[in-house]
Amino acid sequence: MGLSLFPFLLLLVHLFFAGSLVSTLQRTDCHTHESLALLQFKKNLNINSFASRDPHAYPKTASWKLHTEAENSSADCCSWDGVECDGKTGHVVSLDLSSSLLYGSITSNSSLFKLVFLQRLDLADNNFNLSEIPSRVAHLSRLTYLNLSNSLFSGQIPSAILRLSGLVSLDLSQNVEIYSGRQLLELKNPSLRSLVQNLTKLEQLFLGDVNITSAVPETIGNVSSLTTLSLQKCGLFGEFPPRIFQLPKLQYLDVHSNQNLTGFLPEFRPNTPLKSLSLRGTVFSGELPASIGNLNSLRDLDVRGCNFSGSIPSSFRNLTFLTGLYLSRNSFTGHIPSSLSNLTQLSYLSLAGNYFDAVTLSWIDKLTKLTVLDFDNMNISSEIPYSIANLTQLSTLHLSSNQLTGSFPYWLMNLTQLSQLHLSGNNLQGQIPSSISGFKNLEQLDISWNNFSGVVELETILELKNLTLLQLSGNNLSILLPKPGSNVSIPKFQVVGLRSCKLTEFPNILENQNELFWLELSNNNIHGLIPTWIWNGSKESLQYLDLANNFLTGFEESPVLLPWSALRVLRLSSNVLRGPIPIPSPTTEIFLASQNELSGEIPRRLCDLNSLGTLDLSYNNLSGLLPRCLGNSANSLSFLKLRSNKFHGTIPLMFTKASNLRMMDLSLNKFQGHLPRSLENCTMLEHLDISSNKINDSFPFWLGNLPYLKVVILRSNTFRGAIASSFQNNQSFRSLQIIDLSHNHFNGEIPRKLLHSLDSIKSVAMEKLTYMKENKYLSIEICGWIAQFHYSFTLTNKGTEREYAKIQTFLTAIDLSSNSFEGPIPDSIGDLRGLFSLNLSNNALTGPIPPSLGNMTTLESLDLSHNSLSGEIPPQLAELSFLSSMDVSYNHLTGHIPQGTQFSTFESGSFDGNWGLCGKPLLTECQSSELPPTLPTVDEDEDEEGFGFGWKVVLVGYSTGLAIGLGLGLGFTSWAQLNCIVKNFGRTQ
Ligand SMILES: *[C@@H]1O[C@H](CO)[C@@H](O)[C@H](O)[C@H]1NC(C)=O
Ligand SMILES: *[C@@H]1O[C@H](CO)[C@@H](O)[C@H](O)[C@H]1NC(C)=O
Repeated sequence: MGLSLFPFLLLLVHLFFAGSLVSTLQRTDCHTHESLALLQFKKNLNINSFASRDPHAYPKTASWKLHTEAENSSADCCSWDGVECDGKTGHVVSLDLSSSLLYGSITSNSSLFKLVFLQRLDLADNNFNLSEIPSRVAHLSRLTYLNLSNSLFSGQIPSAILRLSGLVSLDLSQNVEIYSGRQLLELKNPSLRSLVQNLTKLEQLFLGDVNITSAVPETIGNVSSLTTLSLQKCGLFGEFPPRIFQLPKLQYLDVHSNQNLTGFLPEFRPNTPLKSLSLRGTVFSGELPASIGNLNSLRDLDVRGCNFSGSIPSSFRNLTFLTGLYLSRNSFTGHIPSSLSNLTQLSYLSLAGNYFDAVTLSWIDKLTKLTVLDFDNMNISSEIPYSIANLTQLSTLHLSSNQLTGSFPYWLMNLTQLSQLHLSGNNLQGQIPSSISGFKNLEQLDISWNNFSGVVELETILELKNLTLLQLSGNNLSILLPKPGSNVSIPKFQVVGLRSCKLTEFPNILENQNELFWLELSNNNIHGLIPTWIWNGSKESLQYLDLANNFLTGFEESPVLLPWSALRVLRLSSNVLRGPIPIPSPTTEIFLASQNELSGEIPRRLCDLNSLGTLDLSYNNLSGLLPRCLGNSANSLSFLKLRSNKFHGTIPLMFTKASNLRMMDLSLNKFQGHLPRSLENCTMLEHLDISSNKINDSFPFWLGNLPYLKVVILRSNTFRGAIASSFQNNQSFRSLQIIDLSHNHFNGEIPRKLLHSLDSIKSVAMEKLTYMKENKYLSIEICGWIAQFHYSFTLTNKGTEREYAKIQTFLTAIDLSSNSFEGPIPDSIGDLRGLFSLNLSNNALTGPIPPSLGNMTTLESLDLSHNSLSGEIPPQLAELSFLSSMDVSYNHLTGHIPQGTQFSTFESGSFDGNWGLCGKPLLTECQSSELPPTLPTVDEDEDEEGFGFGWKVVLVGYSTGLAIGLGLGLGFTSWAQLNCIVKNFGRTQ
């Protein structure tokens, strides 16, 4: 101790005299005009404690004085803080006013530009209040170093800067608006190309957050002195010139967050000096070359969220200096090479979100310096690997969204440095050990969406004093709240998730919280009123509030206006809320309050929510007219669901301007009059459901102009008239997949041309099994997630109506039942080969069943009952191997019922009421003269047969389960599992 103190004292003494040594030995007092220029510069700017963001910032200019008023100030500007003079000439050659709390504007008149001997100028981290970079900067022609970063400069970078051809280092990065992050500087004219053409001596170029919006000029590859190139978030696009990687001195290359920048990694020569490479958030693709092992100086490699594929080369073992390796969210496959265990300097390792084979992690115990391990979403299906126990420096452990099994391992408690533990979305089970309170440094605990069970005494968890994120949602836990009056001190939370925790009251730990931005208390047993105290603290901070699926009846103070001023997501669905609609703040983007007992009208105040994108008030008792202003926020509103209320009157002329509306469901109300033609402005519309109202209109042909319209449900209204005779040829419902016109007063023939325009039903769309929905990508503070809003619909099958909470993206259905259509079923209906469900029942159709129906190879449900169809049942129908529901009852059909695989499963009720039909399943046996119909033999071409076979095999996985009700859960929720997925961490931003 005593020994090591001595050199420290010596250093202090040395530092103490260093300042005076310069001025006493060199005796070069500064030139008066330069000190006057500096003082003038000082005078024109204010000192403002908010002007700099560096916590160590202080006002360097405060000590600048001309006369020795105070003892330690000097008239010699060369000794002023931040100023350096040339030893011989005495001219000011360097000015470092970074982080000096300077606030105000700089113009070309600034006295700064009189300091023409300046070689270094650093004004970083101040607030120049959106000044443009003055053109007179070109007067400082001796500059080799210029740093104007992070200082609120704005506008186009002047071409005068091209005259500073001696620049070795130029930093104009991070000039962004403080709150919005909006980029303030542009480099367009001059362009990046002309910049690198003229500044040929550049060694360091930092242009992060400068709006460049161009391709990366090939000529950067000529600036052979470059050691650092930093172009993140510049809007770069096109292909990144590979020769830039070959610049002989390049050590730092950062082009992250240029979402349209493509490129690939070239072969690297031995001893390439690259130390740090960040391509995060670009669309670089291809494989990592094995020659990446030649980058033996590499310390950081960040390719998160690119499009790389292939396997991780085992040559990584040579990169022994690596401290940060970030490969997450690509499409890497194969095995993770165990040679990564060679990277013993690694501190950050992120492999999340790839498609590795059989991940085993036994090798990881060698990486004892790891502080961050991000293995989210990697298909790890084992217990939490024991090799992690060795990583005692870990502060961040992310293992969410895997298939981890087993219980909460006791050895995890060895990782005493942990500040983030994320185990969400696995199959972990058993109890949460009370020893969890031993993680003294824990800030984030997310064990949501597992099978943990048992009782959790919240008091144990509250011992984690640094906890800001607590996510226990979606387990089988019973949470015991601290007893009232117990004086446990409660951490300041930002995120609290206690969904499905068997809570019967609002948790008292929410009292006095004032930094909470995410609160999830859905799916509990909380009864009664929402108490006023839960919002007192977090009025300004709360952005996400989910109280759905409880037994809440209203608000204690019954405010019309909810108090959370920053709220973005409010979910109150499936409670028993009564009274008028509570109005959240205008910042709200998602407002879900379906399945309550809300009543009264939609207040005009709701129209003030001008960021509202999703509004679901379905299944309430709301009434009155729909306010027309609801369409005013049209630019944002994309999902509007008012199903099952008591609204009346005409549907107002909403959406008079182009809008983003994708889904509108006004079904089960009492709307009257015409369908407003203004809906034609909603060119993004995909789903329109106005069923079960009193709309009195003719067929809205104009909907055919909406290019993305997939679902139209007009069921149970009073639409009338003939469709066939008035259909225009040029109209096309080219994206339509589901059309339901049932229970109306349409008449005339089946609208052949309308059916013919349904291009998207003419073939089977072979897509992945997904559902029609709207995805919203949201990010709130540290949380990011995808909210999915499924389009639901009701389908009548064999007279039973059922609501499907989700619609498969490839589902197709035509329902024209219960109208007054007459005449024959057009033969061309067989062209709709991709149809899953056809319902023409309860009309006045005549003539035969067209054999072409046998072409609809995907048909699962066919209802032709209650018409006047005649003739025989075409044997082709027996070939429809997916047909699981058929009804031809109550027609005038005759002859043999075809016998075949599917037909043998139908009950006799499917054929009842046809006096001329015979054969199984009916009891009427056929006379021997009535031969069973057989298929005409056709020479099938080999190809087609081969195709047909494969077709059926493939289709098995595509059964919609329409008729059998498989896989489609009933329900009304339009909310997918969601979670606060903590987005970014680690060093690089
Ligand atoms: C580029 O630099 C040269 C001197 O090196 C200078 O003469 C010229 O004006 C500069 N170009 C522009 C557009 O300023
Ligand atoms: C960049 O500038 C263009 C206009 O030149 C603008 O349209 C674009 O939004 C800007 N990009 C960013 C990220 O600010």
